Amino acid sequence: MNDSKLPLTPPLTELMQDYRQKVDKALDQVLKNTSNIAVELHQAMRYSTFNGGKRIRPLLVYLTGKALNCPAEHLDAPACAVELIHCYSLVHDDMPAMDDDDLRRGKATCHKQFSEAIALLAGDALQTLAFETLTHNNHLQDSQILQMIRALTQASGAAGMAGGQAIDLAATGSQVMSLDNLKIMHEHKTGDLIRASVQLGALSLINIDKNKLSALDHYAKNIGLSFQIKDDILDIESDTETLGKQQGADIELNKVTYPSLLGLDGAKKMAQECHQKALQSLKNFDHNADPLRSLSEYIITRQH
Ligand code: IPE
Ligand code: IPE
Ligand code: MG
Ligand code: MG
Ligand code: MG
Repeated sequence: MNDSKLPLTPPLTELMQDYRQKVDKALDQVLKNTSNIAVELHQAMRYSTFNGGKRIRPLLVYLTGKALNCPAEHLDAPACAVELIHCYSLVHDDMPAMDDDDLRRGKATCHKQFSEAIALLAGDALQTLAFETLTHNNHLQDSQILQMIRALTQASGAAGMAGGQAIDLAATGSQVMSLDNLKIMHEHKTGDLIRASVQLGALSLINIDKNKLSALDHYAKNIGLSFQIKDDILDIESDTETLGKQQGADIELNKVTYPSLLGLDGAKKMAQECHQKALQSLKNFDHNADPLRSLSEYIITRQH
């Protein structure tokens, strides 16, 4: 299964649709009654969650569980948790102090639709809701929940996504960064949450085999990097309508990206290499891991 021409099979397309519906239903429940004291905050949280995201991180939770034969109903809480962290990260990423974007998922960004103060709080509240959601899971043992909370806090905190975002902001405008540091930045700002999504899927299984866990982590590291490289490429090659966010935003802010350091061809080659390494990581997995293999290809061929 290491053919780079692996077709994007209908099963992945169907799975994407099914799992998107599944996680949306679960998120709707989670976001039903988050607050009866602050109506606008609650609206902003829902607005920033139900606005057409691809749901790649929940999909990774479900597909990892599928690769390990874990029942899908055990995975709703971790799937919601990773998407809530992701949605919070986007709300803050778009704010004027960060990337200052007006468009997200085809709609006005949260701070444009509401206010900066509400966007800040919506991000905060989505983040805490993610962890609360993990604690409401009747299918998992407390020790599994604790491991998931640890993995998700590490992935989203100063040593993970928030740290990667800080590196990104420090470098914005300068264009001075080594390729090694660019890789570190991408691994943290985007890769760590993608890794956590795979980890949470795997932790849904009690006593998962250490070798399998390590192979899945290797897979996740590679697709995490290819995901952000492709995001950087799309900023140049796609258009605002397809992306649902402003095309050319990285160039406008003079961001350091893979295309800015390696050129478009170099960035594409790097994304393809990551895809091959991701496939290689899964060589000892059976056909139940095929959707994970297809997802790796989807990540580097997607149009938005
Ligand atoms: C965008 O992530 C932000 C990055 C980490 C590159 P996605 O491309 O997954 O965004 P949505 O969730 O589909 O909107
Ligand atoms: C954002 O990276 C990564 C996050 C942690 C949100 P980008 O700034 O490139 O994401 P987009 O392009 O705005 O979606
Ligand atoms: Mg950013
Ligand atoms: Mg941004
Ligand atoms: Mg981007």
